[in-house]
Amino acid sequence: MQCTIERVVAAPATPEGDGMVVHRAFPGQSVGRLDPFLMLDEMGPLVLPPNSRQGFPDHPHRGFETVTYLLEGEFQHKDSHGHKGRLGPGDVQWMTAGSGVMHSEMPSAELRRNGGTLHGLQLWVNLPAKDKMMPARYQEFPGARIPAVTFPGGTVKVLAGKFRDASAIIATRTPIQFLHAELTAGGAVEMNVPAGHKGFVYSVRGAGTVAGKAVRHSELAVLGAGDTVTLTAGPEGFGAVLITGVPLGEPVFQYGPFVMTTRAEIIQAVEDFQAGKFGSIPA
Ligand code: CO
Repeated sequence: MQCTIERVVAAPATPEGDGMVVHRAFPGQSVGRLDPFLMLDEMGPLVLPPNSRQGFPDHPHRGFETVTYLLEGEFQHKDSHGHKGRLGPGDVQWMTAGSGVMHSEMPSAELRRNGGTLHGLQLWVNLPAKDKMMPARYQEFPGARIPAVTFPGGTVKVLAGKFRDASAIIATRTPIQFLHAELTAGGAVEMNVPAGHKGFVYSVRGAGTVAGKAVRHSELAVLGAGDTVTLTAGPEGFGAVLITGVPLGEPVFQYGPFVMTTRAEIIQAVEDFQAGKFGSIPA
């Protein structure tokens, strides 16, 4: 049965980090957290002028995962565990912050110097209480290694979960499906929502329909009951992600970049941060 659409909302432009602008799909005025997901930001699309300094300088995370999926431009990151790398278009970083990291996420030095377009997604996935203090873990893959299914009228990339005979190479702590569909004008695709999953569709390009409802770029469609979602593309084509997961059903205490299950754990996180226990980023 085709999913019902509970609502379609535009993601408002929101200042974030140091001089960056994101479209925050949720949480916002009309849609809160979508358990097990805490937040979805669309970075840009933003045209950086030459010699720009914008980015997301040093900041901590604890108790959840950050998923960075770059669509255009180049991003570089460094963290307190000595991990660093670069993400280009189509590349994915699935970072399990667990007990804590300090990191910086910036447009690459070349992009900041020369200017250019930055476009991508950052999804925050909550961790179950039992995994919140696990050691930090990275899963980082170039776009060429992300499984994809091509069919007449489009492509579906499988970042997490399954689509047709393609299974993701990224492992998730709890059941998550993250599919990116790119449709050419008039293209269509039907994708499954696994039993027990809740989630949403968010558009990253063009316009089309989601389960029969019109959705444009930077709009969020929250899914209701059902087990499939059909996307159709309008004349400019349509790019959208279908992201679903099994809700954790646990309390959420959030203070900025710390997401735990009790108030005491949040106080502990702030104390640990102030005591320098998250470490620092090597120069
Ligand atoms: Co971060």
